[in-house]
Amino acid sequence: MGLCKERHGPILMPIGCYTCWIVLGLFWRALACPDPCTCDPTRISCLKAPGIRAFPVLKNISHAANITEIYIANQRLFASISEDDVLIYTGLRKLTVVDSGLKVVSRQAFRNNLNLTYIDLHKNKLSTLSRKLFCHLSLTHLTLGNNPFQCSCDIMWIKVLIEKSIIDKDNMICINGYYKRIPLNNMHIPNCVVPKVNTSVEELTVLAGTSSIVYCEATGLPEPNVSWDISQIKSNTSLQTVKHGAYLTLKNVTSLDNTKTLVCLAENVVGEEKVFVELNVHFPPKITLLDYPILDHFWSIPFSVRGNPVPKLRWFYDGYVLNDRDLTKIHWSNNILSEQYGSLQLHSSIYLNNGNYTLQAQNEYGKDERTIKAKFPENPGDGNIIHPYDGKGYYDSESTPTSIGGDSTVTATGVSNGGNEDSITIYVVVGIAALVFTGMVITLIILKFGRHSKF
Ligand SMILES: *[C@@H]1O[C@H](CO)[C@@H](O)[C@H](O)[C@H]1NC(C)=O
Ligand SMILES: *[C@@H]1O[C@H](CO)[C@@H](O)[C@H](O)[C@H]1NC(C)=O
Ligand SMILES: *[C@@H]1O[C@H](CO)[C@@H](O)[C@H](O)[C@H]1NC(C)=O
Ligand SMILES: *[C@@H]1O[C@H](CO)[C@@H](O)[C@H](O)[C@H]1NC(C)=O
Repeated sequence: MGLCKERHGPILMPIGCYTCWIVLGLFWRALACPDPCTCDPTRISCLKAPGIRAFPVLKNISHAANITEIYIANQRLFASISEDDVLIYTGLRKLTVVDSGLKVVSRQAFRNNLNLTYIDLHKNKLSTLSRKLFCHLSLTHLTLGNNPFQCSCDIMWIKVLIEKSIIDKDNMICINGYYKRIPLNNMHIPNCVVPKVNTSVEELTVLAGTSSIVYCEATGLPEPNVSWDISQIKSNTSLQTVKHGAYLTLKNVTSLDNTKTLVCLAENVVGEEKVFVELNVHFPPKITLLDYPILDHFWSIPFSVRGNPVPKLRWFYDGYVLNDRDLTKIHWSNNILSEQYGSLQLHSSIYLNNGNYTLQAQNEYGKDERTIKAKFPENPGDGNIIHPYDGKGYYDSESTPTSIGGDSTVTATGVSNGGNEDSITIYVVVGIAALVFTGMVITLIILKFGRHSKF
């Protein structure tokens, strides 16, 4: 049940929470199961008169964590659930307090009960109830009927949920200024409007290393609080709140923030609304890996490159442009890192040349290049994979030599170097190691950033 909009980021516990456990612990009465109640390992029920005056508290905290259901009924003297009463029941899923004297539920009462999905508080003495109580919970059931709510903006959120058919309207009434009971559906309160929020842009495109400002504006009554959730952002930020909104400045934006999301939240007693702004951080290419040739079904030179927009890739062999575009294969892209993983494929039909292989990556913001000195075995043994020299180089010797790393000297047509069995073994081992390492890095990246994929 979406009582509030879905929540992003961890739920923050007040710092004092853990100390109050300890302090509370000292004051708890030494009761295993509070007197008129019955307890079993997962359930506490309090049904008998004369009844409890306070929320049933178990002495043993580890036992309390196993409780999944608390059922309280016919307890006339039971009037309030305080901020810390329910704290220890971390495994609580169902809470029922019915036909009782409950008047007050502290707005923080359920902050530690993240498993709570079912709440039934019907037929009590509640005159108001904070929306904040339930915001962080994923409720499937909430019953609040037959309570003497005061008609006011503080309970307008309940009417909003009734209108969205999230809460059942039966027996939902409020008592107006003339002490008349009216259906909550008919409650009209002036200056009580759920927030609407809007940002200056839906997507923020910014060049890494520069700064940018995004504005979030909100309407609503009472005047909503406007905030920016920047928990995903690594760049430096500063926030300036103004009358109806908030400016967020991103400073010296880092490329790591590409594809991250900024969230603007506007909130008042009636409700909340969020708007998402996606970051598109442009940055010049960076070759993050260029490794020695590895032999799988054929030889290939693995590489990875980052850049946004996606950089254009070119290969050079000893200064000559390698024209065959099909040689470059992108195996996998990581949008979060704006990184592409691929290889230069040296097909079996193509003669393998020892020499310098240079990868150049370029986009509108700059270029990066890296060179690797490749040495192939002269007689690889499995001749069905690598063909002997047939006199044709696979680079285009017609193309203009390109200046690479300040050295434009064109070397002679590649000729296979002398190799031996040992060097084959070494290359294969190094190749396999490189492949395994690349796999591990990719897995780590997936593990680390995969969690954010819900955005
Ligand atoms: C709580 O539950 C766990 C297993 O779910 C069990 O090992 C433990 O004994 C229970 N504790 C109590 C006090 O019942
Ligand atoms: C949000 O901003 C856009 C552009 O500034 C504007 O056209 C639109 O009406 C605004 N919407 C709201 C709900 O304020
Ligand atoms: C901007 O951030 C980069 C690292 O992301 C850092 O090296 C550089 O010094 C920063 N520049 C300024 C002006 O803070
Ligand atoms: C708005 O912010 C003020 C001050 O931080 C706070 O007291 C108030 O409870 C907030 N209102 C809402 C609806 O969160």
